[in-house]
Amino acid sequence: MSDLQEKAARLYAIANEIATCKKCPLCNSRTRTVPGAGPANAEIMFIGEAPGFHEDQQGLPFVGRSGQYLNQLLASVGLSRKDVFIGNVVKCRPPDNRDPEQAELDACKDYLDRQIAVINPRVIITLGRFSMARYFPGARITQAHGHPRQVDGRLCFPMYHPAAVLRNPNLGPEMQADMKKVMQAIQEMKAGGQPPEQQGSEEPPEPPVQLSLF
Ligand code: URA
Ligand code: SF4
Repeated sequence: MSDLQEKAARLYAIANEIATCKKCPLCNSRTRTVPGAGPANAEIMFIGEAPGFHEDQQGLPFVGRSGQYLNQLLASVGLSRKDVFIGNVVKCRPPDNRDPEQAELDACKDYLDRQIAVINPRVIITLGRFSMARYFPGARITQAHGHPRQVDGRLCFPMYHPAAVLRNPNLGPEMQADMKKVMQAIQEMKAGGQPPEQQGSEEPPEPPVQLSLF
């Protein structure tokens, strides 16, 4: 088996576990689980929040309006869905698209940890505050977005959630600028240079604060 086939088989096994998971109450209201989608050896992984209505219907991540916006954003830097793996911190839809609760995030965490370990992406782009909190605990997204750091040898790059940009189109230019910035950082990484995140590590850490709107 090739390395890619082996990774795909391991991801498939995780998705199968998710399909019958009952570790949190979201299992009672879901239509389908949404384990994530994309190449098993993707260099870039996006992590969103949780499935919405359309994702829950189709079992696929980011297929509703947020997904259309994400597709546009990818296309604007020459990428397509085939180039990236897209997952979520929670694999089942919260009722009425409410925020995931801490107990649900905790219950679901192990699946995403294992998916990341299999895919082993060089870059993780977090979309919104819930996936950002994995790598930037206590950070506020209005300040942290677009400022990457290295975690476990990966470039972790926080961005707004597409739904936030759809709600507030004024965020569009910043989102676009962040997408360009992450592509530049990836190119520099590939060219053998240091990614530009070390700037951030000299700053004093932000005190833990209540997560703000996004
Ligand atoms: N929003 C998310 O965070 N994830 C999805 O899969 C769809 C919308
Ligand atoms: Fe299991 Fe995660 Fe779905 Fe909860 S959200 S039932 S932990 S797969």
